[in-house]
Amino acid sequence: MTSPSRYLLTAALPYANGPVHIGHLAGCYLPADIYARYLRAKKLDVKFVCGSDEHGVPITIRAMKENITPQQVVDKFHAIIKESFAEMGISFDIYSRTSNPVHHKTASDFFLNLYEKGLFEEKETEQYYDEEKQTFLADRYITGTCPVCGNPNAFGDQCEKCGSSLSPEQLINPHSTLSDAVPIKKKTKHWYFPLQNYEEFLRKWILEDHKEWKNNVYGQCKSWLDKGLQPRAMTRDSNWGIPVPLPDADGKVLYVWFDAPIGYISATKELMDNWKDYWYSEDTKLVHFIGKDNIVFHCIIFPAMLKAHGDFVLPDNVPANEFLNIEGQKVSTSRNWAVWVDEYLKDFPDQQDVLRYVLCANAPETKDNDFTWKDFQDRNNSELVSIFGNFVNRTFVLMHKLCKGKVPSLHVDILDGADNKMVGEFAQTKIKIESLLEQYKFRDALYEVIDLARKGNKYMQDKQPWIVAKQTGNDGELTTEAQNQVDNCLHICLQLCANLAIFVNPFLPFTAQKMIHMMKVVDKILDWENGGKLKLLSTGYSLRPPELLFRKIEDAEVEAQIEKLNKGLAEASGAQPKSAKIAQASKNTDLKEMKENKPQVPNLKPNIVFDDFAKIDLKVGAIISAEKVEKADKLLKLEIDLGFEKRIILSGIAQHFSPEEIIGKQVVVVANLAPRKMRGIESNGMILMAEDSEGKLYFVQPESVIGNGSGVS
Ligand code: MF3
Ligand code: ZN
Repeated sequence: MTSPSRYLLTAALPYANGPVHIGHLAGCYLPADIYARYLRAKKLDVKFVCGSDEHGVPITIRAMKENITPQQVVDKFHAIIKESFAEMGISFDIYSRTSNPVHHKTASDFFLNLYEKGLFEEKETEQYYDEEKQTFLADRYITGTCPVCGNPNAFGDQCEKCGSSLSPEQLINPHSTLSDAVPIKKKTKHWYFPLQNYEEFLRKWILEDHKEWKNNVYGQCKSWLDKGLQPRAMTRDSNWGIPVPLPDADGKVLYVWFDAPIGYISATKELMDNWKDYWYSEDTKLVHFIGKDNIVFHCIIFPAMLKAHGDFVLPDNVPANEFLNIEGQKVSTSRNWAVWVDEYLKDFPDQQDVLRYVLCANAPETKDNDFTWKDFQDRNNSELVSIFGNFVNRTFVLMHKLCKGKVPSLHVDILDGADNKMVGEFAQTKIKIESLLEQYKFRDALYEVIDLARKGNKYMQDKQPWIVAKQTGNDGELTTEAQNQVDNCLHICLQLCANLAIFVNPFLPFTAQKMIHMMKVVDKILDWENGGKLKLLSTGYSLRPPELLFRKIEDAEVEAQIEKLNKGLAEASGAQPKSAKIAQASKNTDLKEMKENKPQVPNLKPNIVFDDFAKIDLKVGAIISAEKVEKADKLLKLEIDLGFEKRIILSGIAQHFSPEEIIGKQVVVVANLAPRKMRGIESNGMILMAEDSEGKLYFVQPESVIGNGSGVS
């Protein structure tokens, strides 16, 4: 789209069933915010809208688990999420919520518009029903054992352990999470939206007219379209959500994926009276920022709904990101494997820009990426502190020392090649950043900003103004020529600082504010059109002393965070009383099935590639001491001799072996497993054990005794 009249940016409405984690930020809120700030700096007409998604099954499940009402759940998390975004500087023009009356009305009207056009098909089908609780069960409400990986807590729509998408029929030993009852099937009527009728339109609109969409998005759309679209129910049996606005629809609500994207429209309505200028105009550039799990809803279902309605503009782009893993593992809220934004803000007060920096520099733009605390520390210390912060700080310190705290003059007659080259970089960097941001390549754009600071450091290092400032004449005074050279270098470096503030502003707005404070200039200087210019700070203008832009992150701080992650994980896995029960039940099913000679579903995990396996370091070691761990009836504390070192490993085998009988045994150890604390003792690895069908354990060991420390592969 060439120069639209206005921009409408949306970021996926997060479910108000928990706080947001850094994967959410990296997935859509941060890139959307960077883009919004960039467009605003260009003085374009832009609105950036979002809000909480307060309907749907995830909310009701949380309410059920905590024994509170869904309204209480959303009230609590809406407030937490809103606050986290505000503190992180995510600059929504409005952060609304789907429980708002405006939204209920907008979504109901939208539904009625399609209904009155006769676009829905009414169909009666059989759905799972909990007789004890007298209610229909969404797939999510049914749990059982995953037929793919054996996870006893798989949901009726998906196994969160192996990622397989499932239907309730596939679960082994299915039961209702509401009552534990085995669900039965019962007839119910719903309104289906015939997506297949929009296939042709979608094919042309996406596959032909939007070839520029990111590969991951385009590819997913193509694969959905190639599989063929099916009618999709736009209503559900539930008492939480927007009631279906029809006479014979008691106990039925709009499907959450019908109402939630309409939330973008409702939020815009709430923001301004002239909302139609944005939504009803072909001249609006609508961009949906989302995570990859939302692609089908934003590229297929919602556009088909908009098309069916007829009045609305369609998205120009849907730049979805992939997922951000944490320390090599998929984020899992149920296992508490996540870095929560509200907790980060408490642990690292005033360090919003560091997180923004790391999440953007390492954004999962084209593939899943990994966040590690070590990388967080490294990027902060060696990029923000040593490159960007260092350059700005040196410039200010030297300007105070060698130029009386004022912007020195530029002596054009003595500018040399290095000066001109440095100045030329200002404008070139601006062009590069613009082109990258317009293609939603945020990490590459940010790289250009840091690279400009890196060039500044090199320029200053080559010019060495602190040495030139020692060139005195016969009178012992600094020569005019030397002072002019010093002036030129610092003039250029100061103008570069002003440029850096403009370029970094969309990414690290808190840092840009500190910089304009040091330069004693007003916000207006950050206008994008000022970027690339040499004359931003006037000669003779006196500046403030430098402020520290970034501080070093210490080892202890990141170690504490890793500890916190491990602790969260241990607590979450310890706190699942239900899982043991379910595991037991599923074992019985397996045994029963075996007796009845039914083919058994193999409990194989999904395939891994060799590289995944190669990450595991297995070593042979010998148990040199073993003792029970106090107050832990399952754990033995083992000391293992690995040849090159001795280490402590906790193993959950106390109910199978006495300490005495295992001393001296050789074992195979997972030697590079991250340390984990249990009962206050740090365990440094894991012992491989084999388990037979009756649950008896056997040590995995080399066929005959070999040297400790030998590798296993
Ligand atoms: N709540 C959904 C999720 O977190 C996203 C909804 S986006 C919207 O995956 F478009 F439906 F609002
Ligand atoms: Zn599974």
